[in-house]
Amino acid sequence: MSLTEEISRRRTFAIISHPDAGKTTLTEKFLLYGGAVHLAGSVTARKNQRSTTSDWMELERKRGISVSSTVLQFEYGGFAVNLLDTPGHQDFSEDTYRVLTAVDAVIMVIDAGKGIEAQTLKLFEVCRRRGIPIFTFMNKCDRPTLEPLALLDELERVLGIGAYPMNWPIGSGAFFKGVFDRQERKVHLFERTPGGKYRAAVSIRGLDDPFVRTVTDEPTYEKVVEEVEMLEMAGEGFTLDGVLRGEITPVFFGSAGTNFGVQLMLDTFLKLSAPPAARETPTGIVPTDHDAFSAFVFKIQANMDPKHRDRIAFVRVCSGKFTRDMSVTHIRTGKRLRLSSSHKLMGQDRETVDEAYAGDIIGLVGHSEFAIGDTLSEQADIVYREIPRFPPECFSYLHNPVSSNFKRFRTGLDQLMQEGVVQSFELMGAVQNIPLLGAVGPLQFEVVQARLEAEYGCETRLEAAPWTICRWIEPQDADLSRIIVPNGVRLGFDTDRQPVALFPSEWLLTFFKDKNESITLSDLAPVNHAEV
Ligand code: G4P
Repeated sequence: MSLTEEISRRRTFAIISHPDAGKTTLTEKFLLYGGAVHLAGSVTARKNQRSTTSDWMELERKRGISVSSTVLQFEYGGFAVNLLDTPGHQDFSEDTYRVLTAVDAVIMVIDAGKGIEAQTLKLFEVCRRRGIPIFTFMNKCDRPTLEPLALLDELERVLGIGAYPMNWPIGSGAFFKGVFDRQERKVHLFERTPGGKYRAAVSIRGLDDPFVRTVTDEPTYEKVVEEVEMLEMAGEGFTLDGVLRGEITPVFFGSAGTNFGVQLMLDTFLKLSAPPAARETPTGIVPTDHDAFSAFVFKIQANMDPKHRDRIAFVRVCSGKFTRDMSVTHIRTGKRLRLSSSHKLMGQDRETVDEAYAGDIIGLVGHSEFAIGDTLSEQADIVYREIPRFPPECFSYLHNPVSSNFKRFRTGLDQLMQEGVVQSFELMGAVQNIPLLGAVGPLQFEVVQARLEAEYGCETRLEAAPWTICRWIEPQDADLSRIIVPNGVRLGFDTDRQPVALFPSEWLLTFFKDKNESITLSDLAPVNHAEV
């Protein structure tokens, strides 16, 4: 297969949802349909039995949350699928934001009984900011749901996006029998399988097929016919262009738990979603079939598995072809490196990968110099600036009470910082040298503490700091001594020596802005490889 053919069959996407909407279940079902049946149970198993995977994940197990993201890769219907899992808990949204820089599309899972929830909205905003195409799966139609029309209306009203139903549910709750596929104008009737462990048997018929009438009661049938007609009359335009620009979301109704509508969604999604696209860089657009291989690091995770106590950098290939043992430039340091320990990932399992193409996600082991956002490239003038840093919303000092542990404490903290687990700041004029950490959610601090203890043998103590808002100061070379700093506000620097201001309240933020009109405040950090 040619390079272009290989790239055009790549589909790289993530599933996002509010916790409990069914992201893990849908991921599993994709694996089931993708033929990776033996793994279909492993995603939930991962969620439920974290203690077996690594010590620090004990935290996840205790709280029943998903902290780390996994990459799952499988072949399906001629497509090479890269499915990126994202943590659902809002305290780890920074990790999710980074994962979203590595995908070309997103499936948004909504609990059809609840509609749009807080975390869905937040994640949606990030996708929109990046212009990522969004496909919607209205899940749990096997339980009582909100009215389908009301769900569509909510998508349009709350998210401000055009919602185009690709299919329409026939019945709901215990009487959810199937969906009407609007493209093919066919009804897909499903049969339940015990525990949804196997693919749901489907029979496909016309809407006016007498059998369809026999499986639904008269009012349900009438309602479906009426609503389907209404949708046709409303004539909401579906354009692929609109979908790919992120202006229209194709909506699928179904139930991941019972497998209803899962395959229909997967097939249509793969058909409609776009292959990897050329990426913009500060020095121009890099086409995916560029002669030179290039990629960027979007996630780093150390000690994922006690069996492999090492550090793995997840990279998204953006152009060309990766071959194991190839030499590339690590753009930030200018060093030439050989990429020999490359892995394809399937949950916790690894398999050496010899080749990968634009769109693929690979794991590179053993490069301690890699940091989030770094570019690896065969051609030194390709530099990606994809990963923004998000403003922390809580701050804490991290104390190391045992001074003989200092070296281990520092090494561990530096490692976690490189992984982007939390951010670190230095206050202007600080007298003590106690690390000040910033995070989007306080659970990130707990991860730092749990990992320092489990992996570096350091017990630590947290001391909450009062700030809740962080803004980067622009221009970056502003004369900080001329800034008027109200009581309670502090100036400082992030790890890249970019100046920041920390505020305990919105009121002080507004006051500060009024007093300092010569500078601007940004809620996104300048990209972190300014030295390139
Ligand atoms: P998340 O990753 O988005 O947090 O959600 P997850 O898939 O873990 O699903 C959350 C709960 O919702 C699970 O139940 C799951 O079984 C259930 N669920 C997912 N999809 C469907 C569906 O289509 N229909 C119904 N009725 N339920 C669904 P749980 O009680 O937390 O776990 P378990 O009892 O399944 O082990």
